[in-house]
Amino acid sequence: MADWLSNAIFYEVYPQSFQDTNADGIGDFKGIIKRLDYIKELGCNAIWMNPCYDSPFMDAGYDVTDYYKVAPRYGTNEDLKELFDEIHKREMHILLDLVPGHTSYQHKWFKESMKAEKNEYTNRYIWTNSIDEFPECLHSIRGFSDRFGTCAVNFYSLQPALNYGYVNANKDYQLSPEHEDCMKTRQEFIDIMKFWLSMGCDGFRVDMAGSLIKKDDEHSTENIKLWNYFMDAIKTEYPDAAMVSEWGEPKKSIAGGFDMDFLLHFGPAGYTSLFRSETPYFSKEGKGDIRVFVEQYKDFYQASKGKGYICIPSGNHDMQRLSKGRDMDELKICFAFLLSMPGVPFIYYGDEIGMKYLDNITSKEGGYYRTGARTPMQWNSSVNAGFSTGTPDSMYIMLDPDKERPTVEKQEKDEWSLLNEVRRLNNLRMKHKALQSDGEIEFVYSEKNTYPFAYIRRNENEKILVVINPSGKDESCTLNIKEANVLYYVQKAAELNQGKLSVPACSATFFQL
Ligand code: GLC
Ligand code: CA
Repeated sequence: MADWLSNAIFYEVYPQSFQDTNADGIGDFKGIIKRLDYIKELGCNAIWMNPCYDSPFMDAGYDVTDYYKVAPRYGTNEDLKELFDEIHKREMHILLDLVPGHTSYQHKWFKESMKAEKNEYTNRYIWTNSIDEFPECLHSIRGFSDRFGTCAVNFYSLQPALNYGYVNANKDYQLSPEHEDCMKTRQEFIDIMKFWLSMGCDGFRVDMAGSLIKKDDEHSTENIKLWNYFMDAIKTEYPDAAMVSEWGEPKKSIAGGFDMDFLLHFGPAGYTSLFRSETPYFSKEGKGDIRVFVEQYKDFYQASKGKGYICIPSGNHDMQRLSKGRDMDELKICFAFLLSMPGVPFIYYGDEIGMKYLDNITSKEGGYYRTGARTPMQWNSSVNAGFSTGTPDSMYIMLDPDKERPTVEKQEKDEWSLLNEVRRLNNLRMKHKALQSDGEIEFVYSEKNTYPFAYIRRNENEKILVVINPSGKDESCTLNIKEANVLYYVQKAAELNQGKLSVPACSATFFQL
């Protein structure tokens, strides 16, 4: 594991929506550089930036046409290098987004692979020898190549699947993962990773990391093997490179050599039950069940402890924002939890000021329902909330039209704003190693359909009890701990008297044990 992850707190920057510096309505690298001090003052020391490579942007850049060159709308490769340098000057780190499962249909490899004549790229993608729909995929690309065949897609229909082979390949078009052409696909991605690592990038967030080897890889055995191969190739030369997967199954991804894996809104229900189900645990309504999360988390935690980290994101560019259905007080309690869990926290840009999810806005670049979580960052009260000096109708995605929309400027002035709460919680984590990535966790109170819930974080030197009550009612419970001093609280402190814990509505309390 990369050492620097032991106290990392990440901030996800969606580059097109963060800060524009040339008034074209789209964020850019220079804008991110301008806002690095803000991210640092928030208490984040690492950044994950969504894809910034050349692309026709039919899936917001997850459809790459050149993995070695950045999209001109963000700047040049030199500008990106400058961003790396500015980040390192501030003792921060940055992960780029790697998209190894598919390219844009406009990538030159794909154009070559569409040709009837056999060439170096014929097997770079997965093609059948018939023009029928692709047998194992919901969608396929067919009808516009000279080549007689149909190509598998990995996500949208314009994202052809790269070829890493099949488990038990048994049809004429299926190659084994060790086939020399599949090995060439691997080698290309090793070269791509090394290209950016040598320029100063600190690692990668890997898109759809569990999707590379196709068919019936029931226990992901072949995918795990493939990732170990990648990790060996990268980590011998770059031992400090950090890798986080969009996989959602830490047992598998961490066995594949990833340093960290996200809990996600798809796959097992644990993450969804916290924030995004019909009756989420984190709501004043108080109808959630923490057991759904705790049981899944414990299982993942035991399997990954000491080998890799679980990341619980506040949100990301693919889901509705955390603020959907929550007021600022409820959001503070969400962050008290997110920033006191083991593993590595990820804050999605704008969540720290409670930016709204905009329902039903026009889709942009393949965003669809995700577009409402990708609107421009709200910095201040100037035109376009300080995101851009372009005309309002030239904005990449519309801004939240609410006159009362939250901004960094307003919240900086208010000691009790969400922004200042997030800063304090980040500082608290930074001050106490027990609260950081490696501090152990023990759930001491987590009953079915019950509020509050409580856990102890600890290391060799310190023990901290965290009591979280998202519900809108005062609650109480009994613990095996007689008394303790309050170290920090959000909203109103809980009280511990002879083992009886009284917990105010919508509060979080940290006790020093
Ligand atoms: C991942 C990305 C998402 C993208 C998809 C296809 O889920 O997070 O934004 O559309 O992969 O690359
Ligand atoms: Ca711009």
